[in-house]
Amino acid sequence: MPFYADPNVLVGLDRPDDAGVYRLSDELAVIQTVDFFTPIVDDPYLFGSIAAANALSDIYAMGARPLFALNIIGFPVNTLPRETLVEILRGGADKAREAGVPIIGGHSIDDPEPKYGLVVTGIVHPEGVITKDAAEPGNRLFLTKPVGTGIISTAIKREAAPPEAVAEAVRWMLTLNRDASLAMVEVGVRAATDVTGYGLLGHLYEMVRERALGAEVYFEAVPLMPAVRELAGAGVVPGGTRRNLAFLSGREKSGRLRVDWEDSFAEAEKLILADAQTSGGMLIAVTPERAGALKAALARRGVPAWEVGRFLAPAEAAGAAVRVRRRP
Ligand code: CO
Ligand code: CO
Ligand code: CO
Repeated sequence: MPFYADPNVLVGLDRPDDAGVYRLSDELAVIQTVDFFTPIVDDPYLFGSIAAANALSDIYAMGARPLFALNIIGFPVNTLPRETLVEILRGGADKAREAGVPIIGGHSIDDPEPKYGLVVTGIVHPEGVITKDAAEPGNRLFLTKPVGTGIISTAIKREAAPPEAVAEAVRWMLTLNRDASLAMVEVGVRAATDVTGYGLLGHLYEMVRERALGAEVYFEAVPLMPAVRELAGAGVVPGGTRRNLAFLSGREKSGRLRVDWEDSFAEAEKLILADAQTSGGMLIAVTPERAGALKAALARRGVPAWEVGRFLAPAEAAGAAVRVRRRP
């Protein structure tokens, strides 16, 4: 992608992150993101709500405060009832309201496949921006939601999803990452990202690749949604998840492996860690000194946190960017 240097662009396409950040003054930067996708659940109201929670998440991942949003809608006006569209928009508006974010405009097009999402604009202090490339060796790695929404959404499409797995996945996808973000800001976290389309390992890889850092992940420590193991074992896996794993199985230009599986893992287990998520959890790097404060700040807000790994120095990560082991 072409880009041109502007000193006010604090985070742009030369350094892609969850959202773009543009400095207005020494005290204030504006942050903006856009996200939209096709339905992942049958209920239009829930689809709208999940799409909104997912779009807001990129603002939260950077430690910023969302201010307002715009709708982006694709809808087959001649083939689906108008009430379906109204329900999608109502779901999005209700979730945005929960976040304290008014939707103040938008744009819709006639589209054979429905799509919905938001453009979200927020503010952040220029020195308080949490980026995905600021982790340090020795940082501990926390995750705030279990993994498995891609596999469960695929099971929904194939009418193979156990109802309790659907209910659990929907509950997590509806959960705003706001409280996780407030906890990160409170304790001075510098590096984080939200887990979405590239899966847990893909987003973790993004956190280490720019600076040739490494990370290790402990499979048994990663929380999974119900039925995810069984579904993945039965081949109920989205195409995006398979593409993620294929990419992560390759090497960087330097020859370094993207992911090294240090213990023996079944293909289904590898796919689970690469599963493309919607409205996934926050992946947070924190210094050992502040890890206790972070856990306390999350717990106080009712946000669960699983410690799933840690960051390694470039020398320790020489052969592979991310190492996956069964346990620490
Ligand atoms: Co993101
Ligand atoms: Co995004
Ligand atoms: Co328009």
